Amino acid sequence: MERCSVLFFPDNVAAQVPPGTTLLRAAALAGLELKSGCGGKGTCGRCIVQVKQGRVRVADTGNLPKRKVREGYVLACCTYVEGNTVVEVPGDSRLIEHQVLVDSKEVLPETAPDVQLGDRLGPLCRQLQLQLDEPTLVENASDLSRLEARLRKEVPGKELSISLGTLQKLAQALREENWKVTVTLAEFDGRAEIVAVRPGHGQRQALGLAVDIGTTTVVVYLIDLATGVTMDMRGTYNKQSRYGDDVITRMVYATEEESGLADLHEAVLETINELVAKLVARNGVDPADILQVVVAGNTTMSHLFLGLHPRYIRLEPYIPTASQFPPVRAREVGLAINPEAWVLTFPAVASYVGGDIVAGTLYAGLTESDEVGLLIDIGTNGEMVLGNREWQVACSCSAGPAFEGGGITFGMRAMKGAIERVEVDPDTLEVSLSTVQNARPIGICGSGLIDCLATLRNAGIIDRAGKFQTDLNTPRLRHGETGPEFVLAWGRETECGRDIIITEPDVKNLLRAKGAVFAGIRTLLKAVDFDLDGVSRIYIAGGFGNYLNVRDSINIGLLPDVPAEKYAFIGNSSVKGARMALLSADTWRTAFEVARSMTYLELSADNVFMEEFFSGLFLPHTDLSLFPSVRK
Ligand code: FES
Repeated sequence: MERCSVLFFPDNVAAQVPPGTTLLRAAALAGLELKSGCGGKGTCGRCIVQVKQGRVRVADTGNLPKRKVREGYVLACCTYVEGNTVVEVPGDSRLIEHQVLVDSKEVLPETAPDVQLGDRLGPLCRQLQLQLDEPTLVENASDLSRLEARLRKEVPGKELSISLGTLQKLAQALREENWKVTVTLAEFDGRAEIVAVRPGHGQRQALGLAVDIGTTTVVVYLIDLATGVTMDMRGTYNKQSRYGDDVITRMVYATEEESGLADLHEAVLETINELVAKLVARNGVDPADILQVVVAGNTTMSHLFLGLHPRYIRLEPYIPTASQFPPVRAREVGLAINPEAWVLTFPAVASYVGGDIVAGTLYAGLTESDEVGLLIDIGTNGEMVLGNREWQVACSCSAGPAFEGGGITFGMRAMKGAIERVEVDPDTLEVSLSTVQNARPIGICGSGLIDCLATLRNAGIIDRAGKFQTDLNTPRLRHGETGPEFVLAWGRETECGRDIIITEPDVKNLLRAKGAVFAGIRTLLKAVDFDLDGVSRIYIAGGFGNYLNVRDSINIGLLPDVPAEKYAFIGNSSVKGARMALLSADTWRTAFEVARSMTYLELSADNVFMEEFFSGLFLPHTDLSLFPSVRK
């Protein structure tokens, strides 16, 4: 079949593709990840590239300004290759490759304690060093019976099992060091399985992975199962982003494209395997020593990870294939670690309250306290859990990915170069910024967007409804392609060389996101007739990076107006909960109890939620009595 060469600059990488392939697909084949918020439907306008040479067919240029089109700029998803082509990829059309911040220097007055496992350190998987008796003509039991007889003392009353892959290596492993072996035993869900038998009592470690599969990012912790020490951690973009920013777009992709489910499954596996490869290389460990994995993710991500179709999660009455997922082998799911390792996926509560929230609830310690706490996880969705040891009620509101940078012109995750703090002088309207790792700014992350909204309002640049006051005397306030916009950083100061701006549509998106989160909190409290004063602690989870300004979050009406001491910022509670379960079989058991007992409140048809949502589209809210400190 005829092939065309598509060469991408400045990376100087090429793909050979059949005519009719989109530039977006060609870029992916060449190993370049372009932003593609709408999953290639031509509506988000984020996959912009410049055709320098060659033959292409442009089906649609979306909202690209005419000037740009004349210069050869196109939407990569709407442009089809017809001959050899040379393409330039602008910096801000790429999914940034910088490492995602995986942990936070908590800066709130008091942070949730990293729950000490103490006596509960009882990993799902442990190693035993054994010396077996050599067989004789009289003591002639099979190798497996000999091993099982010795192990039975370790796991009294439990049925022992072994996988075929481990059994195939058993005879050799037992004899290589004269019946001295190190056995890895996995114990969960009432089972005890021999996962690995290795010759001798050497220094081979038993390692585990705690994984958070977020819609936007994936984070992996590498953990020593014997000591519980987190050896290293890494995070990056979920490669599924090439098929759309949010879970709905990805569910549509899985449903409408023939290879949709396989593409999404492979993309997340590729993401995890790349992170694992980097962790393994950086720590000089053998992937074969990774013997247990616990994964937490929202219900759609868990489905896609396991190759389950998410089709019916999207359609009323929103039914997932499963809420509790069977344990699978690493080889079954495609993880590049010890093929016999068990991979456990956190149970979900409902289609839109997933295992990540169950993990977060455990990490926040909500189910261990008599006092009532509130967990708010601000990600692509806003999910919240109210409760204590006795009861928990949860809901999810589609806040949209604004606080993760989605749908915001210069939005990004908390990574090197992300603007995380913004201040505007109300007199001069001059801006001061700080960025993650003090790098030159490339975009603005969730905490920066919260600051930005608060400071724009405080300086009188936007009104309570988020409209720009266009009569102010500053060059920073100007009219752009989508209406009024404010320049946060001039092109000469930024990494991408372009002015970093916030536009009126960005502000509206942020108002919708914060309005949905606050409406979710109010609806939850009303549903159980509980007063905010009765909540002893509010745990904030999410990928905000190093910093979250509680005062500004209250000022914009994102968080309830309670004393700052009540708040605790707990970072990525999903991966931390997965780590707890990996290291404590008790915690893993509790996860199922919590998932089963948590009451789910469906908000999609809830009138209270809709009323609250519309009231929350103002800064901070239509009802100022809810924000006494702001009113003051
Ligand atoms: Fe091309 Fe959205 S416009 S991916």
